[in-house]
Amino acid sequence: MKAETHFGKFGGTFVPETLMPALEELELAYLEAKKDPVFQKQLSYYLKHYAGRPTPLYYAENLSKRVGCKVYLKREDLLHGGAHKTNNVLGQALLAKTMGKKRIIAETGAGQHGIATAMAGALFGISVEIYMGIEDIKRQELNVLRMKLCGATVHPVEISLNKGSLKDAVSEALRDWTTNIRDTYYCLGTVAGPYPYPSMVRDFQKIIGEEARKQILDAEAKLPGAILACVGGGSNAIGIFHAFIPDAGVRLIGVEPGGDGKKHGATLSQGREGIFQGAHSFVLQDNHGQIEEAYSISAGLDYPGVGPQHAHLKEIGRAQYVSVTDREAVEAVSVLSKDEGIIPALESAHAVAYALRMQVKNGDLIIINLSGRGDKDMYHIQKYLEVK
Ligand SMILES: Cc1ncc(COP(=O)(O)O)c(C=O)c1O
Repeated sequence: MKAETHFGKFGGTFVPETLMPALEELELAYLEAKKDPVFQKQLSYYLKHYAGRPTPLYYAENLSKRVGCKVYLKREDLLHGGAHKTNNVLGQALLAKTMGKKRIIAETGAGQHGIATAMAGALFGISVEIYMGIEDIKRQELNVLRMKLCGATVHPVEISLNKGSLKDAVSEALRDWTTNIRDTYYCLGTVAGPYPYPSMVRDFQKIIGEEARKQILDAEAKLPGAILACVGGGSNAIGIFHAFIPDAGVRLIGVEPGGDGKKHGATLSQGREGIFQGAHSFVLQDNHGQIEEAYSISAGLDYPGVGPQHAHLKEIGRAQYVSVTDREAVEAVSVLSKDEGIIPALESAHAVAYALRMQVKNGDLIIINLSGRGDKDMYHIQKYLEVK
């Protein structure tokens, strides 16, 4: 039994021959784990007792008044580590342990995937090395310190002309994996990359939507009209969307980084089809097919690619992708903090920002996936406000 290798025409495996044995080994282990009750029981145990699932679905009464309809927040910011990334990492780290791997490598942008991997490495006794762009090391310093405290090694990456960000960290991790496939597990942090990552990471994240669907039915006895989530590589969005895909009346809205108005990271809104980092999906590229640098104030959304399932959902019209600017995101951080006493990550604030300008009617019901908390961004937000 294969999992989904493609989503419509998107997805697939576009990697050098040398990586194929590692991907095949990973596919086998993942398909085995999917049907193994012992693995599933262990994963449920750690998700509940270590990470704190289920996360609450919180009725944000003050924010609702401002938006003009009922708004619920799925509180992934309360998950251990501070973001949804822990769901995926616990699954993949358990898989690495089952496969007998001695070393885990990962890329990180905002540092949330890096810290989740560092924590899981400490928990399961596996050494962890993180690749992180130099630009991101500067803007997410708190998470770098957290990773190191949990025993991980952080490798600074500088490849692109002016910066090193998430794209470069993924490329460097793939390069490492190519030379160390025997003992090394590559723990990818989002639903992008070659098969089986997009379906495997989705399977580890879909618990967000499964919980939210049950919680909203318990609270309101009806499904929401819309679900909003920010989209970098796309894992928190797919995580909450997935359980609602069959519900045609639920609008699925992915919010991309519109950046500063000139530079951006809105891959689905403004990119084109192409092959990037192992998969056929949407990519930011110039007229010659060269990958363009993405830009966003939020390190976790600063990525020129996106998961292939999102490309498919866009193509069939099941999900809609919009963008908000850096400024709108920073303002949304401030609004949610003042209205509800909840400080969201800059990434998650993109989804909140879109809710603030969305057309709604009294009586509507929406859920925003609050993918992470904002502690890591405090310094950066303050600096942005001082300069602007
Ligand atoms: C809090 C938070 N939200 C969202 C993202 C974007 O990733 P994804 O689109 O895979 O959910 C990140 C990435 O680092 C993040 O840290």
